[in-house]
Amino acid sequence: MRIELFHQNERLYLHLPDEPEAGVLCVDFCEPALQHRISKALSAEAVVKAMGQRPLKTATAHPLNSCESPMVTAAHLIDATAGLGLDAFILACAGWHVTLIEQSPLIHALLADGMKRGMQSGGSDSSAALLTQAALSRMHLCSAGSSLDVMLTLPEAQVIYLDPMFPDRDKSARVKKNRYLLQQLHGEEALGNNLLPLALTLARKVVVKRPLRALPLDNIQPSASIKGKTSRFDIYAGSNNRLMIP
Ligand SMILES: C[S@@+](CC[C@H](N)C(=O)[O-])C[C@H]1O[C@@H](n2cnc3c(N)ncnc32)[C@H](O)[C@@H]1O
Repeated sequence: MRIELFHQNERLYLHLPDEPEAGVLCVDFCEPALQHRISKALSAEAVVKAMGQRPLKTATAHPLNSCESPMVTAAHLIDATAGLGLDAFILACAGWHVTLIEQSPLIHALLADGMKRGMQSGGSDSSAALLTQAALSRMHLCSAGSSLDVMLTLPEAQVIYLDPMFPDRDKSARVKKNRYLLQQLHGEEALGNNLLPLALTLARKVVVKRPLRALPLDNIQPSASIKGKTSRFDIYAGSNNRLMIP
């Protein structure tokens, strides 16, 4: 299958030249629907609720981190399956410092492009624009690579968040074009194999996003779940107790 990246109007897009009906992928943190979403109460977002305690502390630089602007703080969260960065952005808007890891170089390029454009699109003094820039400044994208390797190089986080790809039962149902395109980019390796057992050893808390009626990831039973409109957030207690949360 042919997959192409192209630039148009200073934006990076991904498409499948042989399947134009599948549309295009582009990361835009300033799109109106998303801006409207962050202008409302973020505490009502299921993904925000699932992370629990709102971060209280300011981050400080950590010299050992392999990312550009690393954080070690009680407010540090690792999004180990960053994808197009939407959940990470909502969480950063809610005050978290989010380290993002994405294994696909193509998705990583889209995400990096969206984050850069979002930071440059300032000038407006609207509260949503200011919130967008503040949130993006709390998001730190690691070099493209598997979280199975990258997570081991990061300082501990309060929470590790996993939203691995879920195999669609009905591949012909292209309900969400973004999801279809993402799935075409990946094989089995995108399903999040082995991420949960590792994450549980690295953080005090792990949150896994699942479709509402799906089995828990790796059939490991969570200690609690929070249900959103279309997704479920399974919550696990990790075994890393080194980080003391006030
Ligand atoms: C469903 S998408 C995540 C969507 C994301 N939560 C959002 O809001 O945009 C899953 C992503 O996880 C990535 N992924 C899966 N396994 C990974 C791994 N071991 N390391 C890093 N990224 C991984 C895939 O490449 C894919 O882009």
